[in-house]
Amino acid sequence: SDQSAFDTDVWTLTRFIIETGRQAKGATGELTQLLTAMLTAIKAISSAVRKAGLAHLQGMAGSVNVTGDDVKKLDVLSNDLVRNMLQASYSTCCMVSEEDKELIITPKDKRGKYVVCFDPLDGSSNIDCLASIGTIFAIYKRVTDGEPTDQDALQQGNNIVCAGYALYGSATLVALSTGAGLNFFMLDPAVGEFILTEKNVKIKPRGKIYSVNEGYAKYFHPSINEYLKHKKYPEDGSAPYGARYVGSMVSDIHRTIAYGGIFMYPANEKSPKGKLRLLYECNPIAFLIEQAGGLATTGTQRILDVQPEALHQRVPFVVGSPDDVNEYLSYVKKFS
Ligand code: AHG
Ligand code: MN
Ligand code: MN
Ligand code: MN
Repeated sequence: SDQSAFDTDVWTLTRFIIETGRQAKGATGELTQLLTAMLTAIKAISSAVRKAGLAHLQGMAGSVNVTGDDVKKLDVLSNDLVRNMLQASYSTCCMVSEEDKELIITPKDKRGKYVVCFDPLDGSSNIDCLASIGTIFAIYKRVTDGEPTDQDALQQGNNIVCAGYALYGSATLVALSTGAGLNFFMLDPAVGEFILTEKNVKIKPRGKIYSVNEGYAKYFHPSINEYLKHKKYPEDGSAPYGARYVGSMVSDIHRTIAYGGIFMYPANEKSPKGKLRLLYECNPIAFLIEQAGGLATTGTQRILDVQPEALHQRVPFVVGSPDDVNEYLSYVKKFS
């Protein structure tokens, strides 16, 4: 068919959500409303990210968040955008954000049945040097009646209804799954719509790239350093792996899905549970990676099986191509 500039039957993310929503049994349209609101926030964050340097949006907000991160102005702006758009969608009863210590309870008159755990701006240490950053979210159905409680958010990743990430990179992309495969949508800024570009994305069984912050090697468990040594000096005559580490997890994860390989944020002596937070970083990404046929583990447990105990708890995080993650797990066995 002629590749005319305009596809007159284009699959926008909004159309995809409506289609998916209608197929869901007992659909009330609430998830559609929620995702439409999340997309509005993501488009606004994308716009703010691309003019941050011009609108004096770079730099520090001057505070430290509950997980000890220096809060950047864009962290605050992104957090306010997501909170306000989601609460205005009448589809949430409560939320968890990296930037809020306590559970965010939706005002009674605006409550719906969903719970959203989100990282409004992922990779904020990369804002001022213009490296790619992202937004991550996971959506659950509430499990309590009456006043929402932490229990609504402390659910295993197995219960995720829908999860996604936005990547503010050379283009703005949304990766999304409602449990029936992983789909990529690219933002057409001229139209302000996300357009479906890849359906049911699958990760390679094995890649050629490892991604980890080797600056912590001094503090890593031997299983990590022995695995990395095998990637750099393979004894079996295979070629060494390449190394890539952006320091924005959404970027490192998207590359891992697109090219294959392994991403690791392991525990280390200084951070015995690693750095990445289970509710709004590890669970959504683990859900998406598994939808693409990949694996996501703490090193001793499948991420989605971890029973959360605290809103901001951290877990060691190793994800990617199944053969690569299984090879890493063989080193955990050998050296633990
Ligand atoms: P956030 O900016 O949301 O706090 O997340 C940053 C995380 C993650 O994006 C990335 O993988 C990791 O921090 C990088 O940490 P190091 O700088 O310690 O490698
Ligand atoms: Mn942070
Ligand atoms: Mn993050
Ligand atoms: Mn963040």
